[in-house]
Amino acid sequence: MIVGVPQESYPGERRVALVPAHLPRLSRAGLDVCVEAGAGDRAGFPDASYESSGARIVADRRALYSEADLLLAVHGPAAGADSREELGLLRREQVVVGLLNPLGAPENGQELAERGVIAFALELLPRISRAQPMDVLSSMATVAGYKAVLLAAAELGKMYPMMITAAGTITPARVFVIGAGVAGLQAIAVSHRLGAVVHAYDVRPAVKEQVESLGAKFVEMALETDSAEDASGYAKAMGEEFYQRQRELMSRAVADSDVVITTAVVPGMRAPMLVTREMILSMASGSVVVDLAAEGGGNCELTRAGESVQLDGVTILGPVNLPATVPYHASQMYSSNVTAFVSNLIKEGRVDLDGDDPIVNDTLLTREGKVVSTRVRELLVSEERRRS
Ligand code: NAI
Repeated sequence: MIVGVPQESYPGERRVALVPAHLPRLSRAGLDVCVEAGAGDRAGFPDASYESSGARIVADRRALYSEADLLLAVHGPAAGADSREELGLLRREQVVVGLLNPLGAPENGQELAERGVIAFALELLPRISRAQPMDVLSSMATVAGYKAVLLAAAELGKMYPMMITAAGTITPARVFVIGAGVAGLQAIAVSHRLGAVVHAYDVRPAVKEQVESLGAKFVEMALETDSAEDASGYAKAMGEEFYQRQRELMSRAVADSDVVITTAVVPGMRAPMLVTREMILSMASGSVVVDLAAEGGGNCELTRAGESVQLDGVTILGPVNLPATVPYHASQMYSSNVTAFVSNLIKEGRVDLDGDDPIVNDTLLTREGKVVSTRVRELLVSEERRRS
């Protein structure tokens, strides 16, 4: 089988799906690798580094698409800047693996199904321990959590660490992280290392210990959270009454913070609105909010995805696609995950779709011209109903 790695055409994307260091693992699985010329340039992996690891460089995208049996991508052909052209290059039975945004843009799955490709969406990986080495969402959330802290630090008119100097004592910055999942825990760890005093809150009581082990203080709130976690460890959607009470209880912590980093999400739902306009007005001028949930609707009432908003001296950032701004390591982590996924997928030189591996079955998005993922089909049906 030939694995093809195209250059990403998604606007602003600098990552590449496969880095040279992981080529030997694919070769051992019996796969040859072709890389589109320049695909790794923006992430710091020049063509020569792929060639010396055994890949063939293909100058023409069209040729790469026609040769590859399996395409490894970050965003996939339905989401690129020239998606029409890229979709037109796909051929039936070609395998596509990537972050295909099946829950956010289920119609992209439909497009892929129409081309007859076998598409795997890595967002649909089950959260089981065997899938951990393939968990691209966690890898990318780790990068985003790290970068969110740097964005906040660059915007804030204060320094993070406490300093005792001849010019007086500088008090440490106060950071409040809302949502202590993968991104939130990383944001806590990085803020703490930079010397900030960090507070955090999450509806899942189980994370209190993790928050504290990273040097942060867990903000206790009188909220009934016993039922806030589902069987797979994700947060469940709570009623509006719960969120109203949470906002009230958090208002003090927000007002006292120089930086608020929000990462609260409930899978498949709009991000809960946790920071209101009034709460922003209670913050000191010069404070910063970084809303990592911007793409999912935002945790702050004022967030605009991809933009910076100012209110009364407070800056609210809604960054999107942050992992693309740390392309070297984000690509390295993505590549490691995707290599583990492909190694599991290929059995005796071919893709076996008929086994009972939940990793293969859950991530399979399209096959034989149809969207086969139940979750995505349900979304497509409700979208259809909404339109008619
Ligand atoms: P995760 O599922 O690991 O963590 C989300 C956390 O939010 C969970 O711990 C959950 O319990 C918590 N939560 C849910 N409702 C809450 C509430 N009402 N109050 C407090 N906490 C609540 O998700 P992960 O992987 O950490 O991702 C976090 C966010 O970062 C997601 O929105 C994800 O899409 C986003 N992200 C953003 C990127 C960007 O470039 N802006 C890049 C990567 C991830």
